Amino acid sequence: MSADCAVLASLPVTTSLAGCCNQGAQVVCTNGGRVTSLLADVAAPNLSALIDGVARLPALTSLTVRVTGGRTVIPQSIGSLTNLQNLTMANCNLTSPIPISFGSLTNLKSLNLSRNFFSEPFSSLDIDGKPSLVSIDISYNDFIGFLSLNRPRIAFTAM
Ligand SMILES: *[C@@H]1O[C@H](CO)[C@@H](O)[C@H](O)[C@H]1NC(C)=O
Ligand SMILES: *[C@@H]1O[C@H](CO)[C@@H](O)[C@H](O)[C@H]1NC(C)=O
Ligand SMILES: *[C@@H]1O[C@H](CO)[C@@H](O)[C@H](O)[C@H]1NC(C)=O
Ligand SMILES: *[C@@H]1O[C@H](CO)[C@@H](O)[C@H](O)[C@H]1NC(C)=O
Repeated sequence: MSADCAVLASLPVTTSLAGCCNQGAQVVCTNGGRVTSLLADVAAPNLSALIDGVARLPALTSLTVRVTGGRTVIPQSIGSLTNLQNLTMANCNLTSPIPISFGSLTNLKSLNLSRNFFSEPFSSLDIDGKPSLVSIDISYNDFIGFLSLNRPRIAFTAM
């Protein structure tokens, strides 16, 4: 088993990832067995442990997490996923606060936090610190304040 597949097998998910690179669209690997894209289902109490585990996948650039079973917050450890380009945590019952460490996700191209319970200033998203962003979906939340976007290239869904 490759190092990355051993990591996947250890993640506290509710849908098994034991198939690793043969899992279908849920797991995408390089020819060398490095995981580059992952869709993980997790119970709310285990979200933090999941992110800690995912941080041990050095080639991961795309992460979708589906959280079930109650409200929770994004853990601080999300900030260690500095290679992430695509992050989707939509319809996950997530609440504020967005951790300060979110500022470390400087390579994000797309961010989807739609349908959660965030209620804080837009500035928590640190959009200015994410120059590669081309797509943001934060619809169906309760973000507050004004968002002045000087970035016409961004496809923005906020309503
Ligand atoms: C959290 O993960 C552990 C280890 O995989 C598992 O035993 C436990 O049932 C999970 N908790 C929930 C609420 O699913
Ligand atoms: C969100 O939480 C509500 C209860 O507060 C629950 O009914 C619903 O199933 C949860 N949604 C998810 C995706 O876990
Ligand atoms: C990542 O996001 C970009 C911008 O939205 C998109 O073009 C690309 O297809 C996404 N990649 C994956 C693996 O989802
Ligand atoms: C964000 O994720 C939700 C749930 O998966 C999806 O319905 C929505 O289309 C996504 N937004 C974008 C801009 O892709």
